[in-house]
Formats: sequence, structure tokens, C-alpha cells
Amino acid sequence: MRYSKIGDRLAGLGSEKWAIHVEGRQREALGHEMIFLSIGEPDLAPPKAILDEAYKQMLARRLRYSPGNGEPSVVNALSRFYTKQTGRKITPEQFLFLPGTQTALYMAFISILNEGDEVLLLDPYYATYEGVICGPGGKPVAVPLDPDNGFHPNIDAIEAAITSRTKALLLNSPSNPTGAVFTAAEIKAIGALCKKHDLWIVSDEVYATMIYGNNIFTSPFFDKDLEERTIVTSSISKSHALPGFRCGWIAASEEFVTSALSITETMLFGSQAFLQDATALALDTHFPETDNMRQSYEARARLLVDGLKNCKTVSSRMPEGGMFVMVDVRKTGVSGEIFARRLLNEHNVVCMPGESFGRCGAGHVRVALTVDEKQIAEAARRIAILAASLN
Ligand SMILES: Cc1ncc(COP(=O)(O)O)c(C=O)c1O
Repeated sequence: MRYSKIGDRLAGLGSEKWAIHVEGRQREALGHEMIFLSIGEPDLAPPKAILDEAYKQMLARRLRYSPGNGEPSVVNALSRFYTKQTGRKITPEQFLFLPGTQTALYMAFISILNEGDEVLLLDPYYATYEGVICGPGGKPVAVPLDPDNGFHPNIDAIEAAITSRTKALLLNSPSNPTGAVFTAAEIKAIGALCKKHDLWIVSDEVYATMIYGNNIFTSPFFDKDLEERTIVTSSISKSHALPGFRCGWIAASEEFVTSALSITETMLFGSQAFLQDATALALDTHFPETDNMRQSYEARARLLVDGLKNCKTVSSRMPEGGMFVMVDVRKTGVSGEIFARRLLNEHNVVCMPGESFGRCGAGHVRVALTVDEKQIAEAARRIAILAASLN
């Protein structure tokens, strides 16, 4: 049979990146006790009230077809949330409720890209970013981030990568995998660049609630002047530990939402009303559980960084936000891929090779902070043993 080009474009951009995780699961099935630090899946319990709300609304028969942009309950809650966050009125018409950030990202690019359009990606980048750009026919253009500068952006390097085909820049702060939180000055400079070259900014803010130390979350959407060109994607997958709910959204201009609505309606025909009600509750309520989650991830990150601080050949720095620590293994003389593979085979620790996140992730492994402190400390001990054996 004959298929569309989209499958060819996406082939090879998915499963290979997760090969070590898959092998970890296979070793586990053979009876090995593994420590999984590979997937950014929250291990802590979500606020029970959100589950209760979903159940209550299900019983109340909130089971009908739903508007393509979202139920009034959730778009009104999003309007309240973003109005508070940005300090200016963001209307309910500026949102599309979608099944998770992943769908929101795909929807964003399908709505703005034509075949051959280039999208700037700051490298290292999240493993699915090439796919969401290539699927609609776009071309990812990687702009290197320097690990020795904490993976913060170099504005001149970004500008140098802009061509007449550049259509958008994909931003992710706090970053998966790097843990960098871009400063207000960096966001401002990126925004000015995008304005100068008339680019869209797709801002993946799925880790916005996980900020550590003195760092402050900033978004280009905070700037009224950038509103028309900014498409925010986010969800409650990480903030409320509910990835299985698939509850996410786009926040953008009313013009963007009107234009994208025909695509979402064609693809989705609306989302589950009872889950939208539960998301509205999540957005409207301050849950202590979410503070606890942030504190737990921060404590785990510190434990890992401290556990590696006496190593001669590996190093790590405290993430500024997010759920991950990048461990720099360049001094061991082996690639991130080989280091991760040896950790898997010799120490039963599963983490992601930095190479899965672009060329600039090379020589690193990414550790997800999704196990308890005891396991994090044990993982750090085993990483240190492997590093010492490579000394
Ligand atoms: C940077 C980033 N964006 C998007 C996603 C997808 O999130 P969601 O569950 O909201 O689709 C993830 C999940 O790990 C992520 O790390």
C-alpha cells in the first residue's frame, strides 16, 4: 500500500532514542533489580482532590462531546491562571485545550509551518522536538548551547542561524534535558530577535512550576509586545503528576486560536469534559502537594550532585529547574551513550545518553529525578564507581 511522506519523515526520530530505557525494562523482566532514571514520569502522588473531581464530574455525566477549544470551565480557569501569571488580561478565547503538551506542540507547528520552513532548536533539546517539527514538513536547525555556560543561550549564535526560511524558534525553559532556566534578560533578547526577524516563538513551559534556588521563571508570553508571536504549550502532567490524564493546552493570541481551531476540531472533535473540569480545579487551586513535589525534586537533585562531587571524571551542577540533572562524563573519555550503556549492563542503573537530545548533549547522561532519595543516593554511588573505573 502507499502511505504519506509523514511516516518517512518521522521514522528514526522516535524509538531509537529510548533504546537504553527499553533494554532496562528487558533486564528488569529477567529479574534484575534496576534503578530507572530514564523517563521524566513523576513518581509522586497527584493531589487526590483532582482525581475526586474527575470522578465526580464523570458521575455527573460530563461525558458529552465538548467544544473544540475547550469547556468553559477550563478555558475560564486558564484565563484566570494566565491573567494572574502575566499581570494582564488573557481572555478565555486565547486557549486551546489539548491532550497534553506533546499534542499542543504538534498542533502549534502544524498550524504555522509549511514544507521547508526552518525552526531553530536550542541543542540539547527534548527528544520529541525534531518529530513535531519534521511531521508538518519543517526542518529543525540546531543552535548549540555550551555545557560550560550551563547550557544558557548565546544570542549571537541564534541570530547567526536565522535564514530567509526561518519561521520559528522553539524555547524550553526550564529545560529538559539541561535544567537551565533562562533569565529575564535572555528571554528579552530572544524575544527581540524573534520580533526583528518576524519569527514565531513556541515556548514549551511544561516545567514552569519547578524552579529552584533563586531562579525565576520567565516567559516571552509575559511581554504584551510578544503576545502575537508566542505560542505557549503546557499541561498538568508534571506540575500535578498526572501525565496519564493527557490534559494540556496552548495559550496564544486569539488570532492564532481561531486559525488553529479548525485543525483541532478536525483531529480531535473536542476532549473529555470531566478531565477538563479536573484541570480547571488544578489551575484554580494551590495544592501543598505540588510544593512538596518541587521540594522533593530539588532535594533529590542536590543529593545526586553532592554524591558526585568528589568524582574526578564526572561532574554535575544543580539544575535551575525541571526534573533532570545532566551528568558531564566527558573527562571519562567515553561517550554519553557508552557510559549509559555500561551503567545499564554493569550497574543496573538506567539513564538516558545525552546524545539522545542532540549533538550538544554528547558526553553527558541525563538523570531523571523520579525515584526516592534512597535510590538517588544509590544511583550516585554506582555512577561514581563506574566513573572511577574509567579514571
Ligand atoms: C520538555 C517536554 N515537553 C513536553 C513533554 C510532554 O508532556 P505532556 O505529558 O504534557 O504531553 C515532556 C514530557 O516529558 C517534556 O519533557
